[in-house]
Amino acid sequence: MAHHNLLLLLLISLAAAVSAHNITDILAADPNYSQFNNYLSETKLADEINSRQTITVLVLNNAAFSAVADHHPLSVVKNLLSLHVVLDYFDNKKLHDISNGTTLSTTLYQTTGNAQGNVGSVNITDLKGGKVGFGSAAPGSKLDSTYTKSVKQIPYNISVIEISAPIIAPGLLTAPPPSADVNITALLEKAGCKTFASLVASNGLIKTFQSTSDKGLTIFAPNDEAFKARGVPDLSKLSNADVVSLLQYHASPKYLPVGSLKTSKDPISTFASNGAGKFDLTVSVNGDSVTLHTGVDTSRIADTVLDSTPLTIYSVDSVLLPSELFAKSPSPAPAPEPVRAPSPSPADAPSPLSEAPSPFPASPPAPAGETPAGAPADAPSAAAEKSSPGKSAGGHVTGSAVLTVAVTAFSGFVISGVFMS
Ligand SMILES: *[C@@H]1O[C@H](CO)[C@@H](O)[C@H](O)[C@H]1NC(C)=O
Ligand SMILES: *[C@@H]1O[C@H](CO)[C@@H](O)[C@H](O)[C@H]1NC(C)=O
Ligand SMILES: *[C@@H]1O[C@H](CO)[C@@H](O)[C@H](O)[C@H]1NC(C)=O
Ligand SMILES: *[C@@H]1O[C@H](CO)[C@@H](O)[C@H](O)[C@H]1NC(C)=O
Ligand SMILES: *[C@@H]1O[C@H](CO)[C@@H](O)[C@H](O)[C@H]1NC(C)=O
Ligand SMILES: *[C@@H]1O[C@H](CO)[C@@H](O)[C@H](O)[C@H]1NC(C)=O
Repeated sequence: MAHHNLLLLLLISLAAAVSAHNITDILAADPNYSQFNNYLSETKLADEINSRQTITVLVLNNAAFSAVADHHPLSVVKNLLSLHVVLDYFDNKKLHDISNGTTLSTTLYQTTGNAQGNVGSVNITDLKGGKVGFGSAAPGSKLDSTYTKSVKQIPYNISVIEISAPIIAPGLLTAPPPSADVNITALLEKAGCKTFASLVASNGLIKTFQSTSDKGLTIFAPNDEAFKARGVPDLSKLSNADVVSLLQYHASPKYLPVGSLKTSKDPISTFASNGAGKFDLTVSVNGDSVTLHTGVDTSRIADTVLDSTPLTIYSVDSVLLPSELFAKSPSPAPAPEPVRAPSPSPADAPSPLSEAPSPFPASPPAPAGETPAGAPADAPSAAAEKSSPGKSAGGHVTGSAVLTVAVTAFSGFVISGVFMS
């Protein structure tokens, strides 16, 4: 009985950790799709596609794709590609079997918040003579594109079909302002992250952010409530260098839209990282909920404030406390978040803030003993930990480690199930 519950949890963690398909691999089989494929990787849409199920990718060959893509910036190409990822499963049979001969289907573009009305959907219509036409769902659009051939089907997870020409929706090719022109401070303030915005401004970090925003930048901005929460250290008691490290820990010099966070296998390095495994973050996923783990605390991603290639800004529920600054040596209560196995014990680590006169803060208000209430992503990984014979190896984990533990335990159940029945 207990086995059943555990099995269920294991399956949930498996589903979270495994992506059943790899669009990059699928498209790599045909060089005619190399440009479409390269751009899926560059815009990180490949991660988004791999993290979803029941999806259809309308692929274009190089000639059809480059006719549009070559003339537009990456942010526009990303919107174009997003409109070619349909959030439903259409194979050859279903395409020719559409009830009433016409349907509208939502695409990834609709989920970006850039699409008004029907602009993020495509119209799929059975045309005379067995042809299937594709066009924007926006009123008055033409069905300029037709079904060419089926490329790959993994029912009912992913279908890849080739269409003859790009689907263009009204406004799709209008470039958003370049991310270098985005006023990050103003966006943060508007998103309810005023405290973070002012700290980042007063410590000069905003200059780093603005200058990397067109090269790849992801900001995890704690909202104003997060700074008032119990367990958040009194910043006025930290050295300037520690405050800067703490703030730097809230951003990564990489473009990480949500699909990439969900599929990331490796820890995420931050602006505070100063060596392998230092000041990095790990990610866990539970359905649509994404949680960041520091080794000391966890924080849910609350909202996407901006996703404009190559800049992403998220608001997060809690201040991220790096273990390099805030881990307490032997904690009386069992630590809810074991430190990742490969990183050395933070107490042994040389202070990354060597220029700071003060060593580690002597005693920051105890965040380590606190269990973050209701962090949903913890459930499956906690179950996986329990099921492993020695807790030591699992610890807090990257996806593949969870997977290994889960798969091992899972096959154990299958075997014992065989013997029991
Ligand atoms: C479809 O996806 C699910 C969940 O990721 C997976 O368990 C299943 O094996 C996939 N189906 C195929 C045919 O790959
Ligand atoms: C998908 O396949 C590509 C190319 O084989 C590989 O580089 C990438 O890591 C794979 N992605 C995932 C999520 O496994
Ligand atoms: C690539 O496209 C050309 C022209 O449409 C076609 O003849 C060829 O078979 C395609 N290559 C593959 C590997 O399908
Ligand atoms: C098909 O068309 C009929 C008549 O126009 C309509 O009543 C029905 O709702 C349509 N079915 C679907 C699935 O759109
Ligand atoms: C799809 O487009 C065609 C041609 O413009 C139109 O006749 C049809 O009503 C559209 N389908 C839907 C479901 O709106
Ligand atoms: C950005 O916005 C902030 C707050 O709204 C404002 O004080 C600042 O002057 C703006 N910066 C630029 C360069 O426009």
